[in-house]
Amino acid sequence: MVDPLMLKLGEERSAIRELFEYGSARKREIGEDNVFDFSIGNPSVPAPACVREEIARLLTEMPPETLHGYSSAPGLPEVRRAVAQYIETAFGVPMSASLVYMTCGASASLVAALSAILQEGEEVIVPAPFFPEYAVFVRTAGGKLLPVPTDKSFHLDLTAIERAIGSRTRAVLVNSPNNPTGAVYGEGEMRALGELLRRKSAQFGAPIYLVADEPYRELTYGAKPVYPMAVYENTLVLYSFSKSLSLAGERIGYIAVSPRCARAEEVFAAVCGAGRAHGYVCAPTLFQRVVSACLGEVSDVEVYRANRDLLYTSLSDMGYACTVPEGAFYLFVKALEEDAKAFAERAKAHELLLVPSDSFGVRGYVRISYCVPRRTIERSLPAFRALMDDYAR
Ligand SMILES: Cc1ncc(COP(=O)(O)O)c(C=O)c1O
Repeated sequence: MVDPLMLKLGEERSAIRELFEYGSARKREIGEDNVFDFSIGNPSVPAPACVREEIARLLTEMPPETLHGYSSAPGLPEVRRAVAQYIETAFGVPMSASLVYMTCGASASLVAALSAILQEGEEVIVPAPFFPEYAVFVRTAGGKLLPVPTDKSFHLDLTAIERAIGSRTRAVLVNSPNNPTGAVYGEGEMRALGELLRRKSAQFGAPIYLVADEPYRELTYGAKPVYPMAVYENTLVLYSFSKSLSLAGERIGYIAVSPRCARAEEVFAAVCGAGRAHGYVCAPTLFQRVVSACLGEVSDVEVYRANRDLLYTSLSDMGYACTVPEGAFYLFVKALEEDAKAFAERAKAHELLLVPSDSFGVRGYVRISYCVPRRTIERSLPAFRALMDDYAR
């Protein structure tokens, strides 16, 4: 016998992964260029030069037994110091190396942070639509995910959040720039969220944590997201270099617990415990070193901006309804029928791979990942037109 929940998770792949696997098989059948694979958020822009340069330098200058050996469980001390220093300088908030935990990307950050703060049955509020794996990570941590709607431009609906907060609420999980909508929460709404959490924490006599999942922080098209620690004290920032440095396969990121957090050392110790319990100690050491030399560097966002502009303008001109993304590399488009899964199936007939919104916690949309080569977008446009024509008949 195996654990039934784990069996279910393993057998039912996520909608995104399912489509990604379908796309790989379909490309083998009809050729790479004939499938318009918008399924997964795999960065299409190469990592900045500093990444390769640092890898080359480390490989030539460091003895392999040191380079590839274990680090301390929360990471190399000099890397944790560099991350803390970077947060202080870039965002103007106090940070301490002793509250930085290096992890294997945002996924591990989420599992470890949520496991650290949640007790069985406690609730995590998340604005919907949201990254589907949140449901898995919150459940793994013993919690209960409570989606609340966003407003019509996919920004925070503070009234809905306030209504959802109760005595079992332990955290609000936000993701800005957002996957799947591209919304970037403004400073005003983040400050108002901080104020609300402060008030509700006082009312219920226990901290309600702000958990900020930030793998897209630098990928914006003009918007400058406020640093969550600057607006609220009980904050954990979860960061990943998967998207900003195009290192998705290298599994590297960190958790930063705000020094202003109530009992910050205890929260951090629980993060260490969760990292230990889930086997996330000692994030990949080569890449700990690489990212610490590349803090503040970003892959070329202008490539994503050009993709966004082409896709948004072309689809809007054809009559598709979508909101212009302010960040990340996803376009969230209204499906042409109520059932987004049925719509995505019809899109597949035109070799368009679009993720239906159901697993993002809302109905009636599809997500397009535009972190693809530009020619994929150019070549896909007739297929989008043909799909629209299908519904015009
Ligand atoms: C919002 C969000 N959080 C977390 C992750 C997981 O990121 P990582 O690859 O760093 O585990 C993703 C990946 O797409 C994401 O979009």
